[in-house]
Order: sequence, then C-alpha cells, then structure tokens
Amino acid sequence: FRCASIEKEQTLGIIKPDGLLSNYTDKIKNVILDSGFVIRNEVSLQLDEDSVRTFYAEHSSKSFFNSLITYMTSGPVLVMILEKENAVADWRALIGPTDARKAKITHPHSIRAMCRTNSEKNCVHGSDSPQSAQREISFFFKEKSAAVYVFLVLKYCP
Ligand code: PPS
Repeated sequence: FRCASIEKEQTLGIIKPDGLLSNYTDKIKNVILDSGFVIRNEVSLQLDEDSVRTFYAEHSSKSFFNSLITYMTSGPVLVMILEKENAVADWRALIGPTDARKAKITHPHSIRAMCRTNSEKNCVHGSDSPQSAQREISFFFKEKSAAVYVFLVLKYCP
C-alpha cells in the first residue's frame, strides 16, 4: 500500500445580504460544490451592529466602515465553513476581486461577477489568510472552536 497525505484546509465563506435577497444562494452553493469544496457547517444569521463591528474591526478606520455595518445588518447572511485542499486561496480566487463591477470584466467567471453590483454589495466574503480563517471560523462557530481545524493532514492509503 502506498499512503498519500491529503492536506485539508478550512476557510470561512459568507453569502452576504444581497446574495441571499437576490436568490443566488443555490447558484453559489453549486459553484462551491462543483469546485471541490465540502460545506462542513453552515448557519443563517441576522447579524447585529456589534458583531459586524467586531468581525470587520481591521477596517474600522476606513471611510466605508459605517456603510459596511449598515449593509451587513440589512438582512440575513449565510455563514459557511468551507473545506478542501488550499481552501483559503482557492475560495478567494473563486469569489473574485472586491469590486464586483471590476470582477465582471477581469474575472468574468467569479462569483462576484455573477452577482454584479459593487464593492459594498459584493455578494460574498472570504477569509484572506489561514490566520484570518481561524479567527473568523471561531467567531461564528464558538461552540465548535475546540474542534475546528484549519489545517489537517489525512493519510489516504488505498
Ligand atoms: S482594503 O481597503 O483593501 O483592506 O479593503 P477591501 O479588502 O477592499 O474591503 C474590505 C471589506 O470592506 C468592504 N468594502 C466596502 N464596504 C462598503 N463600501 C465600500 N465602498 C467598500 N469597499 C470595500 C469589502 O466588501 C470587504 O468586505 P469583505 O467581506 O471582507 O469582502
């Protein structure tokens, strides 16, 4: 028997209010599954102002911060733990650039291009590094934080 190491990584994906309101959820989930991700956990939430402030704390000095809070509390979101090899980078590539208008031109097959709109209403979120993924997964899945793994090596022995 030859054993191969399969390195699984987890990242956090969010379908934002415009994604849910525009009924993109099924399309986005199909893209996620077709791209080889497993949705390990998911929860639909109505975020309050405090949660959004904490979640996006690194952007608190940005001019758009209050607008971002208003937008992210404007309706429910779907928060998902996504898992595959190289999940963090692959999910960021799949969602495309922040500005959904540019995504339409430069990354026409990305999820943000599919949803259109702009930098604020850009349909989806993705952790920008494995460290962010760990923090963001623990933020939403607190009760599971002890069991959450962001990087796991499995032995596959056919
Ligand atoms: S930065 O400045 O490069 O760090 O910011 P960026 O990564 O582009 O965006 C960080 C998150 O802020 C959202 N964003 C905005 N919200 C409201 N209005 C405007 N103008 C705006 N510009 C950026 C953007 O969607 C990012 O959200 P996430 O959920 O992290 O993708």
